[in-house]
This record gives sequence, structure tokens and C-alpha cells, in this order.
Amino acid sequence: MPRLKARLHGGDIYSAARELNRDPAEIFDFSASINPLGPSSHVWKAITASRHLLSHYPDPHCWDLRQALATFWHTDPEQIVVGNGSTELIDVLPRALGMHRLLVVQPTFSEYAAAMKRAGGQTTSLYADRSNQYALPIDRLCRVMETGRHDGRSIDGILVGHPNSPTGQACSADHVARLATVARRYGRWLVIDEAFADYCPERSVLPPASSWPQVVVLRSMTKFYALPGLRVGYAVATPAVIRRLRRQLPPWSISTMGQVAAIAALRDVAHAQRSLRFMARERERLKKLLAALPGCSVLPTHANYFFMELPRGRHTHDVTEQLRNEGLLVRDCSSIPGCNARSIRLAVRSRQENDRLIQALSNLLHDGV
Ligand SMILES: Cc1ncc(COP(=O)(O)O)c(C=O)c1O
Repeated sequence: MPRLKARLHGGDIYSAARELNRDPAEIFDFSASINPLGPSSHVWKAITASRHLLSHYPDPHCWDLRQALATFWHTDPEQIVVGNGSTELIDVLPRALGMHRLLVVQPTFSEYAAAMKRAGGQTTSLYADRSNQYALPIDRLCRVMETGRHDGRSIDGILVGHPNSPTGQACSADHVARLATVARRYGRWLVIDEAFADYCPERSVLPPASSWPQVVVLRSMTKFYALPGLRVGYAVATPAVIRRLRRQLPPWSISTMGQVAAIAALRDVAHAQRSLRFMARERERLKKLLAALPGCSVLPTHANYFFMELPRGRHTHDVTEQLRNEGLLVRDCSSIPGCNARSIRLAVRSRQENDRLIQALSNLLHDGV
């Protein structure tokens, strides 16, 4: 079978299963960062109870889901638009906001630049400082917002991952609010991707940001609510901005089951709390195990994944391919701008799965790849 080279995103258990001649369920996926407890049991019940709706088109307005989200965030349904995953909203942002040149902070999620390219726009990069643990450079970003220029080029807006992927870094909500104030003053866009912010709610800019002009907050129901196969994400912004986004979306892009599942997931507060408690415990345990691997350095994280560097002399590509042969997928970050050849991102999964990954990594690093 021909080897598929460019792995742009994590989570492709299907290609790995085909290559290894295994069932997709036998692949351990640390390359996408999904809540290891899985979706709420309420989701299954809601999907079953809605079977009869399958022979109808989905609600094109996502009315009930927007009501549920508005209640959740203490905002108005007119300030929410739902997309087929937040990826769909990232895709329409440049056209909806009329952005031609966007600034991103590298290393970061490649879809921001890909969406700009698809829309005929351009992306310019500011690099977070590795020696400062890739912290979001808020002061530098505020200066770019003020001048509207970076590297001699003009920009219409800034997109920050918060927490950022792959680095797991997030600053305080106050710092992001400061950036939003400058964005408003100078009439530039600020997009805040909070796809992983469920894991650090104290750092999220919601609910206040729902009424900030010039600001769009993106959220995903894929990660924390463990629904990547159903594709649900949403944006929160002022009603005028939401209308601009909605105009760019195709009709019926969010399936009936996606809408039904998202509502059920959102309402299961007990599962959400269990998930947060589990993550806090298991992330701490895994961090210690990773840090104890010879020569590895692990960054602190605000999300459900770790960004780390393998020992000097190792190359992420070799290690990820070896792990892949054992059915363990991790995210090779070596080709992301701002990362180096030893950069890797790993999701926090169940205790048993994490132990298996540690064992495999330990064998590779002790024996040589
Ligand atoms: C930082 C970040 N934002 C957004 C997304 C898109 O997620 P989804 O389209 O599943 O909501 C991803 C997916 O990996 C991501 O890593």
C-alpha cells in the first residue's frame, strides 16, 4: 500500500488501521486530543430517541442547540452560530470577516493558515519564544494590533489558540481581554480559538467576550464532549458578526444527530465534572511519567495534551513511525513552523492506555530507534 506522507492532522485511525491491517478500534489514538471518558451516556439515549428524525433534513437554524448554548453561556441565541465542527467556522472566517492578511502565533494549528489560503488571503507568523515555554506574547500582539503591521506587512486581524495547539499554553482571561480592547480601538479582528478551553474554564473569555465588538470566540464540541465523529462546533460574537458568519455557511451542515447529541452532552453537568476531575488527576500522573523518560522535556499544559521534546539526537518522525507500527498514534509536530525536529504532542488518554504509551516510548528511548 502506498505510504501516505503528509499527515496534516491527528486522529486518522482509518489510514493507520489500513496500513497495519487492523480494525480501527485496535488503534490507540494519542494524536487527537479527545476526552478519554468518551461522550456522556445521555448522548446515546438522545440519539436513540431521535431515530425517527433521520428521514428529515436537520434543523437549518440549529434552534434548540443555540438555545441550549445561549443558556449555558448566559447569552443570546443570536450571538451563536453552529458549524460542522469549529473547522467549518475557521474555514468561513476569512470570507465572512473580509480578512486578507491574518497574523497567527506559531507554532499553532495549521487550519488557520490553510483557511486563509483557500480564501485567497495570506497568513503572517509571529513566533512564540521557546525559551519562554511558548507563552502567548501578549505585549507583542498588542503592538501588532496597534500598528496593524508585522514584518513590514499590514494585517487585518490576529487569531490565537487559547489554549494553543500544539503547545497547550494559555494566558489569563485578563490578558486576552487587553488584546481585545486594543483590537476594538484600532478596528482589527481578534479570533480566539477556545477549542480546548473546557479544560481551563478560568482562562476562557466567555461569557463576557460574547458582547465584545471585533472579537469572535470559537468553541468545539469535539474534544471535551468527545463527539469528533459528529462534527459540532460554534462561534460566539455580536449578532452582526454572527450574521456575517452564517451567510457564508452552506445549509444543513450540522446533522440532526450532531445537534441532538450536542444538546444532551451540554446538559450532562455530572459527566463534565467527572471528566475534569479525571483529567486533572491523570494529566498530573502522565506528566511525571513523561518527564521521567530519559532526556525528554515536557511543557506544562492547560489542555488535555502534552507538548514535549524528545532527547537530543532523536527525531520525532522516527519515533512516531515506530509507535505507529505498534498501533500507537502520536502527533509529529516537527513540520509545524516554530517547532523543532524533536517536537511531539500526546493526548492524555485512559490510565491503561497512557501506561502502554509510556512503556512503548521507554522501550524506544532506551533501546534506540
Ligand atoms: C486548536 C484546534 N482548533 C480547532 C480544531 C477543530 O476541531 P473541530 O472541527 O473538531 O471542532 C482543532 C482540531 O484538531 C484544533 O486542534
